[in-house]
Amino acid sequence: MSRLQAEHLYKVFGRRPNEAVARLQDGAGRDELRADGTTAAVIDASFAVEAGQIFVVMGLSGSGKSTLLRMLNGLLEPTAGRVLFDGQDLTALSPRELRQVRSHKISMVFQHFALFPHRSVLENAAYGLEVQGVAREERDRRATEALGLVGLAGWENSWPDELSGGMQQRVGLARALATDADLLLMDESFSALDPLIRRDMQDQLLELQKRLKKTIVFITHDLNEAMRLGDSIAVMRDGRIVQIGTAEDILVTPANDYVASFTQDVDRSRVLTAGAIMADPQEALGTTTPDGTVLRTERDVLEAAPATVTADTPIVELFTPCSRSGVAVAVTDEEDSLIGVVPRARLLAVLGEPDPGADGAAPQEGRKTAGAAVAKTSGATEATDAPDAPEAPEGKVIAGA
Ligand SMILES: Nc1ncnc2c1ncn2[C@@H]1O[C@H](COP(=O)(O)OP(=O)(O)O)[C@@H](O)[C@H]1O
Ligand SMILES: [Mg+2]
Repeated sequence: MSRLQAEHLYKVFGRRPNEAVARLQDGAGRDELRADGTTAAVIDASFAVEAGQIFVVMGLSGSGKSTLLRMLNGLLEPTAGRVLFDGQDLTALSPRELRQVRSHKISMVFQHFALFPHRSVLENAAYGLEVQGVAREERDRRATEALGLVGLAGWENSWPDELSGGMQQRVGLARALATDADLLLMDESFSALDPLIRRDMQDQLLELQKRLKKTIVFITHDLNEAMRLGDSIAVMRDGRIVQIGTAEDILVTPANDYVASFTQDVDRSRVLTAGAIMADPQEALGTTTPDGTVLRTERDVLEAAPATVTADTPIVELFTPCSRSGVAVAVTDEEDSLIGVVPRARLLAVLGEPDPGADGAAPQEGRKTAGAAVAKTSGATEATDAPDAPEAPEGKVIAGA
């Protein structure tokens, strides 16, 4: 069972919302309704979030992201549809039951840190526990622990205005973590931060997530952030979810021209990984090396390969070896067994426009790894604004799935 499920959620603001839902179900668009002064903020949204996943909702401003998020914790009542959290239908709970679920099981982290200026960092981090009625001593202990998790040990007795923006956002995160809620809803939580600090926060979230394995719904309007953080990404447009998939799915097989145009500036060579594009080792058998040796066994393939990489290596690192040799690059697992090969032609094919008809241009065929398919490393998706971003440091790949 999925941790969180949205089933055909609608939210309509304005007059006669139910009538509007019926019209939307009949195929009316947002614009038609707007003409009557009604806003269809979210239209027929369905998705499932698995335990331990970061599910990203990405879309331009006004696409309905915040409205969707507020329905997930019951702050907004859906006009139609259901939200299931651990199988429990939130839309069927009484206001009291809902408050209970919200204060114990779900935490929200906003874009603006919403810290209380006249409370210490510790008291701010303990706020959620205070709302739950946890006794002073225990809440101080848990808040101190949470501050340690976000790298703020030693700042407990400071005031919020003594902290930088990034640190304040960490306090917001600590507040969410202190409650032990295992569903975190994050609405543009890093969007107000400077780019470098923002990247730090993304790293920190991924790092924490490796240890804590929360279930996270993260909202952003930033594609790079979405690709960096999301195990799964839902792209929203005008109230509708137009595609749900991994970063790689969205990049390689966009559902429509809108998604394609969104991703056109992403540097595929830093987002796609060897594991995502590799072919079966069989494909390298029978090829001939420059010195005339025919590769007959997997061992031959390994020995002749110009480089041996792991599934999570970004393909940008395959160019040099592929340019040196016509023999395929070898992809191995932790036990150094051959799990795939990347021939030069395949490397070139995936960098072109998506072309499902062309032979060899559909990287999914050879795909073996789902979780490690996309490079979630520092700098991996930053190439649109920083073409010369440094190579990702070794070993920083986040185990998402
Ligand atoms: N309380 C409200 N009343 C009327 N319209 C609203 C309300 N909240 C949001 N909207 C409208 O719903 C649409 C989606 O808004 P929102 O969910 O905030 O989008 P996003 O978070 O993606 O920027 C927008 O057109 C917005 O103006
Ligand atoms: Mg919003």
